[in-house]
Amino acid sequence: MAAQLSTVFTGLRFENPFLLSSAPPTESDSNIMRAFDAGWGGVVTKTIGLHPVVNVDGPKTKFLRADASSPRLSMQKRAGAVLQSSWNWELISDKTLDWWVPRIARVKQAYPKHILVASIMAGSGSDQELSNWQTLAKACQDEGADALELNLSCPHMDRKDMGSNIGKDQELISVVAEVVKEVARVPVWAKLTPSTTDIVVEARGAFLGGADAIVSSNTFPSLPVIDPETLEFEMNVDGLVSSGGLGGPSILPLSMAKMAQLTQAFPDKAFSGIGGIADFSHALNYFLLGCGTVQVCTAAMLDHAIGPNVIKSLIAGMKAAMERHGWNTLEDFRGIRRDRVVQHSRIRRPDSKDYHGGYDAEGYAAAEAAAER
Ligand SMILES: Cc1cc2nc3c(=O)[nH]c(=O)nc-3n(C[C@H](O)[C@H](O)[C@H](O)COP(=O)(O)O)c2cc1C
Repeated sequence: MAAQLSTVFTGLRFENPFLLSSAPPTESDSNIMRAFDAGWGGVVTKTIGLHPVVNVDGPKTKFLRADASSPRLSMQKRAGAVLQSSWNWELISDKTLDWWVPRIARVKQAYPKHILVASIMAGSGSDQELSNWQTLAKACQDEGADALELNLSCPHMDRKDMGSNIGKDQELISVVAEVVKEVARVPVWAKLTPSTTDIVVEARGAFLGGADAIVSSNTFPSLPVIDPETLEFEMNVDGLVSSGGLGGPSILPLSMAKMAQLTQAFPDKAFSGIGGIADFSHALNYFLLGCGTVQVCTAAMLDHAIGPNVIKSLIAGMKAAMERHGWNTLEDFRGIRRDRVVQHSRIRRPDSKDYHGGYDAEGYAAAEAAAER
């Protein structure tokens, strides 16, 4: 039987489990349609909101690169350097809901079988703000959006009732999910911030509010590095920076750790993995931990803005891996490495040693005794 790439996630059928995540590659209808033509199974729109958005006066994204021959890390363009991460402080879409509404309709009319997810964001500080979530949800689903992704994770919001600021508050997450579910006729995904102590707590809040899936990770809060010659941050406006978001290769292992926590805590729930995916070997990590879809941003930004080569290689890589391992569908390998992540003390020690997580009179105690002798 030939490898079958199509899959069902939160009740929606995807031609393949690869989506463009909410970011510059999905900031317009023309980009989204190009992405579908290129082969992406789904697209999450750049986040749509109702509050005013004005971006910084300068570049919004840059790429940090490493040299092969020295420890240098820099955003400066140079030959032979390889991508380490993306860094951005871009806000959500600067286009209005009125701008988006006819475009969502147009995309869905042209591509009825492709999955279009509307990413939305509002505040949560008042009933009015909470009703803005409903306005956004209704407007997008009425135009044909197949699902809604709640942005509870943008790391550079000043407003205390938005983005990752509410993504740190399990009760607010629950309230927002519930408010959107009240009006939603389509699945609701919650995109959580990775910058909390225990992401399982926030995920529980989202599920209690009725969310159908968790999406993780958004970018990690971070700063651009400082140029040792000029002593300026490599990205700044008038010498000033603020916390922004790290994406790309460097966050793959970080995001995997979050995902392992999530899929172990909720083995029967739906998860979409993001972070550092550029080819199938990266995506496979998330599938083996239990994700039903994955999303891509940084790698697509660097590949003709919407990742035509990235999606080709994801599809080819998935087919090749499925043939090699004898898998027919994603369900044959989804989650098969989830239970391999265990407590440190469960990892085998050399034969002669027992270890009980630091609780026994071994280790230090034995060393002290030896020192006294
Ligand atoms: C320039 C830029 C803009 C982004 N804008 C959004 C956004 O509007 N909404 C959102 O949910 N995530 C946004 N993201 C986060 C990405 O969707 C994604 O979660 C993150 O970049 C990690 O994936 P990656 O490692 O493939 O880049 C943005 C990322 C970048 C680099």
